[in-house]
Amino acid sequence: MKPAKVVDRIPPSGIRVFFDLVLGMKDVISLGVGEPDFVTPWNVRESAIFALEKGFTSYTSNKGLVELRQEIAKSLSRRYGLDYDPEEEILITVGVSEAFDLAMRAIINKGDKILVPEPAYVSYKPIATLCGGRPISINTSAEKNFKITPSDVSKLCDRDTRALILNYPNNPTGASYSKKELKAISDVVLKKNLIMISDEIYCDLTYDFEHTPFATLPGMKERTIYLNGFSKSYAMTGWRIGYACGPKSLIAAMTKIHQYTMLCASVISQMAAMEALKRGGLSVQEMKREYKRRRTFVIYRLNEIGLACHIPEGAFYAFPSIKKTGLSSLEFSQELLKKEKVAVVPGTAFGSLGEGYLRISYASNMDKLKEALLRIERFVKTL
Ligand SMILES: Cc1ncc(COP(=O)(O)O)c(C=O)c1O
Repeated sequence: MKPAKVVDRIPPSGIRVFFDLVLGMKDVISLGVGEPDFVTPWNVRESAIFALEKGFTSYTSNKGLVELRQEIAKSLSRRYGLDYDPEEEILITVGVSEAFDLAMRAIINKGDKILVPEPAYVSYKPIATLCGGRPISINTSAEKNFKITPSDVSKLCDRDTRALILNYPNNPTGASYSKKELKAISDVVLKKNLIMISDEIYCDLTYDFEHTPFATLPGMKERTIYLNGFSKSYAMTGWRIGYACGPKSLIAAMTKIHQYTMLCASVISQMAAMEALKRGGLSVQEMKREYKRRRTFVIYRLNEIGLACHIPEGAFYAFPSIKKTGLSSLEFSQELLKKEKVAVVPGTAFGSLGEGYLRISYASNMDKLKEALLRIERFVKTL
């Protein structure tokens, strides 16, 4: 039996393909997966156990527990002065993954162009395609620290362009944007009448300056779908919990789809997320301090080895160039895995513009990072 044509048109996730290889091998140091090596803070886990003990085992409102939506509204207001109505402007989802899918389904009419800065998080282009959209890449480069500029956006816009997706701090490049840089991009978003999809899942892991949510910029709250979640900030990837905030009309459209496809996010995860927001702040700061320490070490070592790497401003990924080695990203990753048992992700998993780069996650403990970098150094010397 043949699947739908549109499914044939999208590739399997490059990360998963590579990691299926890793699964069958022993003693591999994996710097591949994009998830924290910390476990969820104990008070958050305990709140879920408590929720179960008290018998919280049923569906919640489609939009999610009102108490959680209120907590999210309070937190955004307190941190950024960003005010959302918990009744109509916030939707609790099954991770940012679902929130992104809903956003695409809610805004795309067949043939709409969706601008995607590349290298890009693996889901963006396939989901836009599945929704009948035409993803258009905005090329970024190491010379510009993998950032887009207002003119990059402007040049690609025509009457079919519907939305711009921005993810900062970025997976896989670590690039982020200052308020001034974001303001310049927002001017084009306004001028070209775009919807902004802002994936800020790594907002708490911004190392060198304050994170600015896109929706706080003048005129942007009305046209931004702000996506965030608990996976990265609170080491809660397995809980599958995220949220979207935005204009009433778009949140209502997303909720309608969510009602039919997901009903609601898990009540236990929602209870845990509430605890994370109320009392998880300390753990976030500790994790961030640790990631920052690892970032310094990993970037220093990569450059020392001769794999040129810019300093990522956020998230927990290094994106070094391997162009000097003459190998393709896939060849480098496969050979490194075979010879030294270190798993990294070929840059091409994030689009063709990732050729010549690797994504190395530093969400691993220092001992593993030190050993992995020794092995990478040994491997590079043999080339
Ligand atoms: C940029 C980005 N957006 C979204 C996600 C998905 O997050 P969630 O676990 O909330 O579905 C990830 C996960 O790696 C990510 O890196």
